[in-house]
Amino acid sequence: MVSILTFPDGFLWGVATSAYQIEGGLDLDGRGPSIWDTFAAEGRTRDGHDGSIAADHRRRMPDDVALMSDLGLASYRFSVAWPRVQPDGSGPASASGLDFYRRLVDELLERGIEPVVTLFHWDLPQPLEDAGGWPERQTALRFADYAALVAEALGDRVTRWSTINEPWCPSMLGYAGGIHAPGRTDPAAAVGAAHHLLLGHGLAVDVLRAHLPASAEVGITLNPYPVHPVGSSEADLDAVRRIDGIANRMWYDPVLRGCYPDDVLDDFRSVSDLSHIHAGDLEQISRPIDLLGLNYYRCYHVSYSPGASAVSEWPGSPDVAFAAPDHTPTSNGWAVEPDGLYDALVRVARDYDAPPLFVHEIGAAFDDVPDATGRVDDTDRIDFLEPHLRACHRAIADGVDLRGFYVWSLLDNFEWAEGYTQRFGIVHVDYDNQVRTPKASALWYAGVVAANGVGGPAPDDGEALPKDP
Ligand code: FCB
Repeated sequence: MVSILTFPDGFLWGVATSAYQIEGGLDLDGRGPSIWDTFAAEGRTRDGHDGSIAADHRRRMPDDVALMSDLGLASYRFSVAWPRVQPDGSGPASASGLDFYRRLVDELLERGIEPVVTLFHWDLPQPLEDAGGWPERQTALRFADYAALVAEALGDRVTRWSTINEPWCPSMLGYAGGIHAPGRTDPAAAVGAAHHLLLGHGLAVDVLRAHLPASAEVGITLNPYPVHPVGSSEADLDAVRRIDGIANRMWYDPVLRGCYPDDVLDDFRSVSDLSHIHAGDLEQISRPIDLLGLNYYRCYHVSYSPGASAVSEWPGSPDVAFAAPDHTPTSNGWAVEPDGLYDALVRVARDYDAPPLFVHEIGAAFDDVPDATGRVDDTDRIDFLEPHLRACHRAIADGVDLRGFYVWSLLDNFEWAEGYTQRFGIVHVDYDNQVRTPKASALWYAGVVAANGVGGPAPDDGEALPKDP
């Protein structure tokens, strides 16, 4: 008989999406332009793809919620589009923009699905970028104003909130690497953007607390990458230290300890005078939080290589090469490394005074091709998700306070600079007619949710969890 690795009672099983990646309907609600509209219009996404239709979720939302209900999901993590709610990025709100999210929350609650709101998942209003974007301190203040609008509209019914999704991406990929909107390659701007994203988080925590009932849980969503050396020279180990600093510690330390790591600041001094860090900022950034979301996709494997990262998302660290490890890659080349999820969970729980953790995103892209009947037999995605669930189970058994798991993503969607060429959904979207078809992984996941666990122990997974982990 195959036993089941059972998760703690009340463990939250969900899926995640983000506004720009699925909504479309950019012409509705008086929505203003975002930096991703501009980036796509400049031809900087794959094949010029943009979010104008995406998965048409703005129009099809009730059906998508019904689909989640059919899968038995307990929770849905979505983001609110700042340009839909506040078209200019400042000033008055769009009543119909806010109404869309009110209706979404109503639909979810009616079906017993817990909403989890992310306030910023990268779609910065273009007028704010025109005024300098995240490298400008003003943007953090505007973000806090916007947080108040959303909290007023949804605060009576939404319990769990995340301020910002993966601030590393909009700061480093957006302002240093040039890979994400707004596509700048200015290391000093990226370092400033990172700080102002963190400051925006801290300001928004206060705003949310002021508007929400005491029972609300507020946090941030970060994207840890365990970093491993390729080679063992001192320079290789220093490359690990640098990438770990920018990918992991420069977010954890300010949010959870109220300071930046000294070595990271030293690295940044080669590109920035750091004058954007004002007295009192770190107290603001480290306001206590009730939850920490982690998005996990893969590890980094790095070595010293002069000039290899000269123009890159690693400001102040120009000499690092990234190796592709020898594991089955997914269709965007990311390796499958479930132990990295275990390591990331255990690290933040062990090294930091971390609040309860949630895996806010985990998923993989595969070349999902429907068969003649429209079925998508994505066993590769099941083979990806299952060991990651085992890694979570193992982390819980080892004492990590992990409370939920959100698969990225409910639907195939606009994968940023890669446009529609990467499919991450557990539900297939036919972009010609917007037909949704649950893939085999969706049906498998529904089984996991129903069983509150994953079947069949693998070696070393241990037995059931202790009663009160
Ligand atoms: C994460 C993002 C999400 C999606 C996945 C594949 O970094 O948060 O929007 O792009 O990667």
